[in-house]
Amino acid sequence: MAFERTLVDDVLKQTDIVDVISNYINVIKKGRNYVAVCPFHDDKNPSLMISKDKQIFKCFVCGHGGTAISFVQDYEKISFGDAVRKVADIAGFTDPRLVETKKALPVDAALVPLYSCISDLAVFYQYGLSTPEGSAGLDYLNGRNLDEPVRSKYQLGYALADGKKAIQYLTNKGHSLKTIEAIGISNGLGSNLTDRNAGRVMFPIADPNGQVVGFSARRIVDSDEAKYINTPETKIFHKATLLYNYHNARRTARHDGYVYVLEGFMDIYALSKVGIESAVALMGTNMSKEHIALLRKLGVEIRLCLDGDRAGQSAMMKIITQLNEERLSYRIVNNQNDERDPDDILQEEGPEALKAYMNRLINRAEFALNFYKQTNTLKTMEERKRLVADFVPILIGATNPLEFEEYINELSRVSEFSVDSIKQIVNRARDKTDHDTVGIMAEFHAERRTYKRYQLAERALLTMMLNDPHAVDFYSSRVEYFYEELYRNIANFVVEYKMKNERIDLPSLLSELSQSELAHKQEMQDEITAISLEKTHPECTDQVMEEYRTTILEEREKFYDKEVVNRAMAGKSAEEQGRIAAEYMAKRFPRVKPKDKDK
Ligand code: UTP
Ligand code: MN
Repeated sequence: MAFERTLVDDVLKQTDIVDVISNYINVIKKGRNYVAVCPFHDDKNPSLMISKDKQIFKCFVCGHGGTAISFVQDYEKISFGDAVRKVADIAGFTDPRLVETKKALPVDAALVPLYSCISDLAVFYQYGLSTPEGSAGLDYLNGRNLDEPVRSKYQLGYALADGKKAIQYLTNKGHSLKTIEAIGISNGLGSNLTDRNAGRVMFPIADPNGQVVGFSARRIVDSDEAKYINTPETKIFHKATLLYNYHNARRTARHDGYVYVLEGFMDIYALSKVGIESAVALMGTNMSKEHIALLRKLGVEIRLCLDGDRAGQSAMMKIITQLNEERLSYRIVNNQNDERDPDDILQEEGPEALKAYMNRLINRAEFALNFYKQTNTLKTMEERKRLVADFVPILIGATNPLEFEEYINELSRVSEFSVDSIKQIVNRARDKTDHDTVGIMAEFHAERRTYKRYQLAERALLTMMLNDPHAVDFYSSRVEYFYEELYRNIANFVVEYKMKNERIDLPSLLSELSQSELAHKQEMQDEITAISLEKTHPECTDQVMEEYRTTILEEREKFYDKEVVNRAMAGKSAEEQGRIAAEYMAKRFPRVKPKDKDK
């Protein structure tokens, strides 16, 4: 669905590109601009530059550039319209024209009976809690302080001890035995089906749309049986692709600016009780690719909180490595050596203590330092080096000399490298950060010098066109077209844009370009952002423009010359062709003697 152009322009006007990009990646202020590690190529140094003045971004290594909207579009790989909505959302801009008429999601028709059946079952389990036989389940939930609001919010239930009853209920509702088998809750076959969850309290698990797709069933008495029984993989339940409570968290996370990633159901309810709704549970300690994709979509800081015991800490170390590779921003709840989970804290110490606990956040390096200090697992040279490398940015960032001293001593103790060698590494890294930025810029400008004279003239004129409507008129009336195809495409687009807008507004122009059907729009967008961020902009006077025009027309003349010569040579003998070529060269380059060029 296309938006009106004025709406897109309004959204862009209300938006700060720095805020928008900060929502996705870590942005660092550098002088008047902002930089970040580019998410569009395998970047090591911050090569992505964000201009607050011009409201555009540009990667000086991979060349990717654009507006706040195109950043979101490319980062999330979503449509232009969805990106406009997200950007408006981040900017807090509301407009009735942005409201989406909710499209019906394309659902596989074969799955519809399964969804319907499992939804009915969830209701049956909820109802189970209120029956006399269900009192065992109700007592259990009450014993764990899961009161009525929590129970109904999360649709908690109880599977009646007689496992035939659930099956009976579903068949009475018109579901076939085949469908009942397909949702993965039954044992036995055909008419002997029984509910495998019988006698347990039930936690429905929903997909990101809030549709129930499976269950986890907790035993309510001490026994050797598994604490939780999960629905096996079915056509609608794929555990590794689901995060518990994601459908709720996705509504609040953006506003809160974070999402807690926890281990289990009980942790979710504990946080909800103290007002933290932006939380999901892994239902274990494994983080899958699909989990990461879901978390990335939220576009907020991830706050990891698994158990404080050794297993939990090791799992966190592993997840941190994954999040790091995926360039997600995260912190960790510092719960080392605390064997209690959030639910235990709430029960033992109350809501304020839990809130404080959840806010004890540390970054990766601090976590890693504690982890290795505690576990003594830092054995190999590789690991020791990695710890130091992880810590370098923290040390560079430490503004307080006492803090710096403390970190470096601790790091030296744990990594078993001397304080001196760590200091050397930090200093070298400090120089390198400065150099790298300079290096990137130098490379970029070096590239410019390889342009031909007429290309530079065309480029310079194009720069003016992007800043000054007067230059656009000059182009239309005096130059008419550029020799260089990419520049010509851009110039034509600018001319068209100016006819509709009078003023040239860069983000608005770029967003119109990305909505267009032009074949080379990505290339054009990358070039426009590059041109706009170049340093030298001579004043746009008629005299300067005339000079550019002369250069451009000279080149064009040569081109036509060459065309004439080519036509003259066509079909001639080799000898004849040689003569014509020599004549042409003599005329084109009267002073150049090909044999003894001096350097
Ligand atoms: P926990 O053992 O920490 O469970 O496992 P919990 O949520 O704190 O539950 P209580 O307090 O003991 O009742 C964390 C999560 O791992 C999954 C569940 O999703 C659980 O919430 N799990 C655990 C299973 O799937 N099966 C199990 O047997 C145990
Ligand atoms: Mn627990």
